[in-house]
Amino acid sequence: MRSANPMAILLLIAITATAAAAATPTATKYVNHTVGGATGWFFNSTSNSSFTNYSSWAATQTFNLGDYLIFNTSTNQTVIETYNQTTYRSCSMDDALDDDTFEYGGGSNAFGDSQVIAVPLTLKGLTYYFSGAGDGVQCQRGMAFEIQVNQGLGLPPVLRQPPPPPYTAPPPGSESAETPPGTVAETPPKGNGAVRNGANVREGLFGFLALLLLVRL
Ligand SMILES: *[C@@H]1O[C@H](CO)[C@@H](O)[C@H](O)[C@H]1NC(C)=O
Ligand SMILES: *[C@@H]1O[C@H](CO)[C@@H](O)[C@H](O)[C@H]1NC(C)=O
Ligand SMILES: *[C@@H]1O[C@H](CO)[C@@H](O)[C@H](O)[C@H]1NC(C)=O
Ligand SMILES: *[C@@H]1O[C@H](CO)[C@@H](O)[C@H](O)[C@H]1NC(C)=O
Ligand SMILES: *[C@@H]1O[C@H](CO)[C@@H](O)[C@H](O)[C@H]1NC(C)=O
Ligand SMILES: *[C@@H]1O[C@H](CO)[C@@H](O)[C@H](O)[C@H]1NC(C)=O
Ligand SMILES: *[C@@H]1O[C@H](CO)[C@@H](O)[C@H](O)[C@H]1NC(C)=O
Repeated sequence: MRSANPMAILLLIAITATAAAAATPTATKYVNHTVGGATGWFFNSTSNSSFTNYSSWAATQTFNLGDYLIFNTSTNQTVIETYNQTTYRSCSMDDALDDDTFEYGGGSNAFGDSQVIAVPLTLKGLTYYFSGAGDGVQCQRGMAFEIQVNQGLGLPPVLRQPPPPPYTAPPPGSESAETPPGTVAETPPKGNGAVRNGANVREGLFGFLALLLLVRL
């Protein structure tokens, strides 16, 4: 018998496709990256320098949507996230636009209180981080780095939120300082935001269910 069994061919195609998918280097889970590793996010005001080279640290990591940056730090430093290179290079958010720059933490007036700030990565592409403390000196002296955020597994449903209200300074010591900017990689809602948000939640649910199905198959 010369002709091959169609069932066997289908099986072969399935196996090949599975192998190809497995060979592609993709993220398999979300990762929390502690900024600076064990060193944390600190500035030494005596030596006038950052505790470590944060650009070098960032170069050792691969960042994907849904990952978190964990800033293990104190109130002596702040965490400013921006998508705007001009803002990053200026080491100041004074002239920054409300929708491309966000400040986390730094609400306390007390010096040296330890704090851990979790920043979710919610947009693909170049993202910049710096400390705004010391009127830009900390940033000029090493408290700054940029990262490239890749697609990875995409945003998990829990991070798919509607765009945030305009920035307001968090009250001192408040947990709200850790609220993610909730930036969504899709076009902003038109008209009735509530309807749009519902759609986002549903999309998220379907995505999650589809994922579950895939995992079970
Ligand atoms: C990563 O950090 C976030 C925010 O603090 C937390 O909710 C999540 O459980 C952490 N994930 C892991 C794997 O540690
Ligand atoms: C800060 O820098 C000073 C001067 O270089 C050094 O003596 C001190 O140990 C540093 N502090 C920390 C916590 O590394
Ligand atoms: C730290 O460096 C900045 C320049 O980046 C300089 O203006 C400042 O005087 C220095 N501070 C100290 C304490 O050396
Ligand atoms: C930090 O390391 C990068 C290379 O990763 C280097 O280009 C840069 O000059 C270093 N910065 C400092 C302040 O040493
Ligand atoms: C933050 O730093 C403290 C003290 O250095 C350490 O005990 C803790 O494990 C660190 N946390 C993270 C998330 O790395
Ligand atoms: C970046 O921010 C500056 C203000 O610091 C603003 O003038 C500029 O339009 C922003 N660039 C982009 C691409 O939004
Ligand atoms: C915070 O800054 C104050 C004032 O510059 C300094 O005395 C203190 O040692 C710093 N604490 C930490 C943990 O960096």
